[in-house]
Amino acid sequence: MRHALLVPLALVAAGLVLPAAAPAADKPSRQVLYNDGPDGRFLLGGTWLFKKDRLDVGERRKFFRERGRGGWRPTTAPNAFNAGDDTNESMVGTVTWYRKDFRKPAGGDFVVRFESVNYRADVWLNGKKIGDHTGAYLPFELPLTKLKRTNRLVVRIDNRRRETDFPPSRFNDTGQPVGGWWNYGGPLREVYIRRIRRVSLTHVSARPDLPCATCPGVVNFRARATNFSDKAVGVRVYGSVGGRRVKLGSARIGRNSTRSFTRSLRIPNPHVWSLNDPYLYPARVQLSGGGRDSWSMHTGIRGLRVAGGRVTLNGQPVSLRGVGMHEDDPVKGAALDNTKRMSDLLAVKELGGTAIRSHYPLHPYYMEQADRMGLLVWSEIPVYSVRSREFYKRSVRRLAFQTLQDNIESNGSHPSVMVWSIGNELASKPKGALAGYIRGAARLAKQLDPTRLVSLAIVGYTFDECVPAYNRLDVIGVNEYFGWYPGPVGQVADQDLLPGFLENVKACYPGHGIMVTEFGAEANREGPQEEKGTYSFQQDFVRFHLGVFASKPWLSGAFYWTLQEFRVRPGWDGGNPYPQPPIHQKGLVTFTGEKKPAYFDVQSSYQSTTQVGTPAPAGQSKGQSGR
Ligand code: GCU
Repeated sequence: MRHALLVPLALVAAGLVLPAAAPAADKPSRQVLYNDGPDGRFLLGGTWLFKKDRLDVGERRKFFRERGRGGWRPTTAPNAFNAGDDTNESMVGTVTWYRKDFRKPAGGDFVVRFESVNYRADVWLNGKKIGDHTGAYLPFELPLTKLKRTNRLVVRIDNRRRETDFPPSRFNDTGQPVGGWWNYGGPLREVYIRRIRRVSLTHVSARPDLPCATCPGVVNFRARATNFSDKAVGVRVYGSVGGRRVKLGSARIGRNSTRSFTRSLRIPNPHVWSLNDPYLYPARVQLSGGGRDSWSMHTGIRGLRVAGGRVTLNGQPVSLRGVGMHEDDPVKGAALDNTKRMSDLLAVKELGGTAIRSHYPLHPYYMEQADRMGLLVWSEIPVYSVRSREFYKRSVRRLAFQTLQDNIESNGSHPSVMVWSIGNELASKPKGALAGYIRGAARLAKQLDPTRLVSLAIVGYTFDECVPAYNRLDVIGVNEYFGWYPGPVGQVADQDLLPGFLENVKACYPGHGIMVTEFGAEANREGPQEEKGTYSFQQDFVRFHLGVFASKPWLSGAFYWTLQEFRVRPGWDGGNPYPQPPIHQKGLVTFTGEKKPAYFDVQSSYQSTTQVGTPAPAGQSKGQSGR
C-alpha cells in the first residue's frame, strides 16, 4: 500500500500534475517518421523532460523535496537514457520518468501511440493514469480522454527485465547481467498522438499474396474498428489497392466495443513485387460512420512458399544471402534516426545482400524501406533463449503468443516480410511446454497469416535426433558457428564437420526450407590466420563457410551475423581471446563504420551468388545474382 501511495504523491510533489517550471508546452507537428500506417498522426517531438527514479523509499523522499523542475532535465523522444553507459547497472536497468507538455491540436479526440518503450511503461495524462504496457519493439496506443488546451503526459519506464520477459534477463555465476544485446531503456522509438473519431481503426493490415506465378494477386485486408463512444454506431469499411476498391463490410458496433473486418481483393495480372523490381501498390482502408478514419500503406504482390524443401519467391527457388542486424548506434544506442536506418539498408545492398534478420521487430521505417529496396526480412519476436521451464507459466505463453500476434498485425502489409520467426535458440531438444509453445505459435502464425512462412532459429549443434515439434514450421533457421565456438562438448569445434552437419539437418527436415540464420567470427585486430579474433581468421572463416553453403544447392539462405558491431553486454568475449566488451565484434563493419577485410570476401561471394532462381549452366544467365 505504501508504495502505491508513494507513486501518486510523487506525481504531485515532483510537479508532474501541478504547473512547474517546465519548457513551454509545444504543439505536436503533423510530421511522421515513417509513412505506412494510421493517418492523422502528430509527432510528439521537441523537448521532453527526463529524470531517474529514486528506487528506494528513502531516496524517494528526496524526490518530494526537489523544487522547481525537480531534477528534470531536457531530453528527446526517441531516447535511450543509458546509451554509452557500459556498466553492469546500465545493463540491469532501472526506473526512469519521461514527461512531455503539449498543446492539443484542434478538433476531435486523440490516442497516444508509443512506437516502442523498453520495457514496462505506466502512463499518466494530467495526473490521471491512462494505462500501461509490457514489451518493446512493437507499438501500443492508449486513449487520451478529456484533453485540455495544455496537457502533461508522464511515462514511468522500468527496463529492469525478468526471466519471464522477452528477451529474458539473467545473471551469470559471477553476478554479471547476461543477454544478447544491450538493455537500452526509454522510449526507444518516436511517440505520436493520433486523432480518433467516435469509431476508429485501431489495426489495419493488407497482406499480399501470389498463389502461383501465373495466378492473380490477392490482398487480404484485415481491419479492426473500435467504438470509443458510449453509444452504438453504424460504420462502413472499405479497402483499396491501386485503383481497385472493395467493401470490407458494415456493422453496428456497440459502445466501447471492437469489430474486425476481413476481405480479400483480387488483382488480375499484377505487377509482381520482386527483389529486382520491388513494385508497390498504394493501399488504403477507410472507415465512415462515427467520423472518418483511414490508414494508408503500400503493399507488393508476391508469393512465398516452401516447395520441395526450398523456399520460393514468386515460384522461383531462393538462395538468399543476408545479414543480421541490431538497432544500435555508438552515441544514440537503440534510439536510432532514419539516417542511420537508411545507411544500414544501403550497406546491405552494397554488400550484395538480399535479406536482413533481427532478434526483434525492426522499426517501421526499416520495413517500408525494405519494401522499396527489394530486401526480404526475417522478422523475429524476442523469445530469445528463454529457459524451457518458463513456458510452463501461462503468463509467459500468453505474452509470447500476444507478441507474435502484435508483430504479424503491425508488419503484415510489408511484402518484404518473408517469415514470422517465433524465437531464437530455445532448448535444442524441446519437449513438454516448450514443444507446446513451438506447435502453438506455428499454428497461430499460420492462422493469422497463411501467406507467410513460420520459422524458428535453432542452435546449430550436431544432430543426434530430429525434433518432431519442428514439423509444423515451414522454415528452420540454423545458427551455426562451426570452427568458432567449441559447442557444449566440443562438437562444433572442427569446422570440417559443417558440411555433414548441414546434410543431417536436411535429412531431418526434407520438406522444410532451411536457412543458416547465423554464422560469424569475432575480429578486432591484425594477426595470424590461425589466431581467433584476427581479421585474417575472420576472412578464412567466411570463405570456408560460404564455400560450404555454395555446395548445398538446397540451402534457401544464409545470414552473416552481423553486418555491424553492436553493444552486447559487460564481460562479453564472444569466443575472442582478446575481446573488447561490451562490443560484439563478429560484425563485418566496426561500431564506428569501418569495413573489415572480411567485408569484401562476403561481398564478393554474395554478389556472385545466384540468389533467386536456379543457377544457369556456365555461359547462360538464368537465375538472378545478388547485387
Ligand atoms: C547466438 C545468438 C546471437 C549471438 C551469437 C554470438 O547465436 O543468437 O544473438 O550474438 O550467438 O554468440 O555471437
